[in-house]
Amino acid sequence: MSQESVTELSGQRMASLLRGSLFRPELYHHYALLDSSNRQAAEWAQQGAAEGTVVVAEQQSQGRGRLGRHWFSPVGINLYCSLLLRPAVAPRHAPQLTLLAGLALWKTVQQWGIEECRLKWPNDLLLRGRKAAGILTEMRAEGEKTHYVIVGIGVNLNGSRGDFPDPLQEQAIHLAEALPFTIDRGLFLADLLLQWEALYGDYLQKGCAPLAAEWWRVADWAGRPLSVRLADRSFVGEAVTLDADGCLLVRCADGMLTRVVAGDVALLGED
Ligand code: BTN
Repeated sequence: MSQESVTELSGQRMASLLRGSLFRPELYHHYALLDSSNRQAAEWAQQGAAEGTVVVAEQQSQGRGRLGRHWFSPVGINLYCSLLLRPAVAPRHAPQLTLLAGLALWKTVQQWGIEECRLKWPNDLLLRGRKAAGILTEMRAEGEKTHYVIVGIGVNLNGSRGDFPDPLQEQAIHLAEALPFTIDRGLFLADLLLQWEALYGDYLQKGCAPLAAEWWRVADWAGRPLSVRLADRSFVGEAVTLDADGCLLVRCADGMLTRVVAGDVALLGED
């Protein structure tokens, strides 16, 4: 019998909540404090850990965000988890798992009765125009071989506005602000992993096109004006669609279509 105390996200509790066959209890690792759950998951991956390994931290001292940003990770109120995957896909397709994670998150929050969340391409979940969750996908690959992919998911769940440091108060939000109750983090995680597993099974069988189509339908971006910031330039345009690879097609003012593979995108007038 484990000495670990039973808390919301502890292995002992999650063993009774995990459903599905990918994220099995023996592959679940819960830590009180990590620098970054993505870094820890990569360490497990390099030691040969199986697909379906999940790393969860109660708190992160160096939570990683996209583009080298820091992910604010205070103790006990949020979810910081990293999934280890070993999909047989080319490295250039690994970012599609970011879309998959976003859609899994969106479906989970619907299940929890929060209907007003929006997906933001490629990796955010917004509530009332502020960021409720972010996804950081990292991988190790050689040539055309993907050794592993780590999908890190950070969800702001149960805090209030004052829990964020000053610059984040205008940009970030906790999901529970849209609910009259506190979110049980273990139940939320179990739902998220089940949603993930269903989408992942389809993705491995059918490829990215159906996933991109569903993402586009629920995101409801068609025809919306947006701004795009790439590494070397910025422009505004109108959202056209996601292509079968999950890349964003944008029509610029001169009528030209641009295919955005990676970048920072904001819907104009919304965030
Ligand atoms: C972003 O929006 O910039 C991505 C944020 C991803 C944060 C999560 S928290 C769990 C996992 N571990 C990390 O260090 N980062 C991701």
